[in-house]
Amino acid sequence: MSSTTLQYKQPSLQGDITVPGDKSVSHRSIMFGSIAKGKTTVSGFLLGEDCLNTIDCFRKLGVDIEVDGTNVTINSPGIDQWTEPAEVLYTGNSGTTTRLMLGILSGTNLHTIMTGDASIGKRPMRRVADPLRLMGAQIAGRDNGQYTPLAIQGGRLNAIDYTMPVASAQVKSAILLAGIRAEGTTIVREHEVSRDHTERMLHQFGANVTVDNGVVTLEGGQQLTGTHVNVPGDISSAAFFLVAGALTAGSRIVLNNVGINETRNGIIEVLQNMGANMSIASNGENTAEPTATITIETSHLTATVVEGAIIPRLIDEIPVIALLATQAAGKTIIKDAEELKVKETNRIDAVVNELKKLGANIEATEDGMIIEGPTPLHGASLKTYGDHRIGMMGAIAALIAEGEVTLDDADCIAVSYPTFFEHINNILK
Ligand code: S3P
Repeated sequence: MSSTTLQYKQPSLQGDITVPGDKSVSHRSIMFGSIAKGKTTVSGFLLGEDCLNTIDCFRKLGVDIEVDGTNVTINSPGIDQWTEPAEVLYTGNSGTTTRLMLGILSGTNLHTIMTGDASIGKRPMRRVADPLRLMGAQIAGRDNGQYTPLAIQGGRLNAIDYTMPVASAQVKSAILLAGIRAEGTTIVREHEVSRDHTERMLHQFGANVTVDNGVVTLEGGQQLTGTHVNVPGDISSAAFFLVAGALTAGSRIVLNNVGINETRNGIIEVLQNMGANMSIASNGENTAEPTATITIETSHLTATVVEGAIIPRLIDEIPVIALLATQAAGKTIIKDAEELKVKETNRIDAVVNELKKLGANIEATEDGMIIEGPTPLHGASLKTYGDHRIGMMGAIAALIAEGEVTLDDADCIAVSYPTFFEHINNILK
């Protein structure tokens, strides 16, 4: 862990960026390609640490995965022919890998052990283990399966009809992935719709899945067929540059190939509500995941309220939205976002603590935060808490802060955006 000092003197940002592949879709491409028997090819794959850990887990299960730049080729014997790994499956910092794999591994005929880094060791896993146990899964771990390391004895599963207690695509996806192997029809009911990449990919890999008014229905025992997955650019990574472009004077940034799946594009609505100078050119809807070119220019922003059903559609963007709000006129209120407390770190506390150090007028609430703007930001020594999105929020803040911003550990950014600083430097004028 080494510290990074950033100081930008009246920067403007101009140029094009093609953001790296979507993290959620990249993980799922490896998972689905490994479950399916035969060949799957992936383009635009995210070479972030989280996704590389997913690859590593499936290699340990006997799946052949070749990485050539951002192209990945998966040759799998199919889930029934995976080998029982002699080693522990290491999921690093990745909640998506840990939770989705729990669903997948529960329906195999294998004994496996999964563990991750210190952050993963503190994140709740029973939200996934409990519904999987209702399906018959055998999962053991600290605090009755709440925390890693987790041991899974795979076996026969039965379908469930499950109403989601929290809006979580990870929980929904773990149940659906187990549901592929289960006997009967698995139904997942969501009050607030979470990202639907799993449902889209089930369809792409030939499974019959229906989604109707927040109810996902999947027949068990279906075989997946290998295919090609084209990973869109990650809107959660693009978000940092949307905010950077809006906040720095004399800027114009063109973001290419950004995924705009409507279960993920809440940040666009927030920017529009705040009056951002932004245009969106759709690349057409005839792909599994729609994409667009988004242009953002320096903007005069007004405060907004972010609450309710939009929260799952922008949950990972809240740190950078909070930064955006420090420069908007008026009081921005973010609520219904208590899920932030169980991300890579407690993101309510982390965002509020670190933005305060920079001079922001921000207070934590039980389920979000209140930010009063605009406030000029100054230099400070910031902590990332080992959380990539807190690190990137700090780096974007450095673009508008007067003085030096130091990040105690910027290496964590490689989890989702290994080329982040290179991309800043490419457009810095
Ligand atoms: C993800 C779902 C979200 C998100 C995470 C990725 C996914 O988590 O925060 O970064 O790929 O399914 P929850 O579904 O637990 O909110």
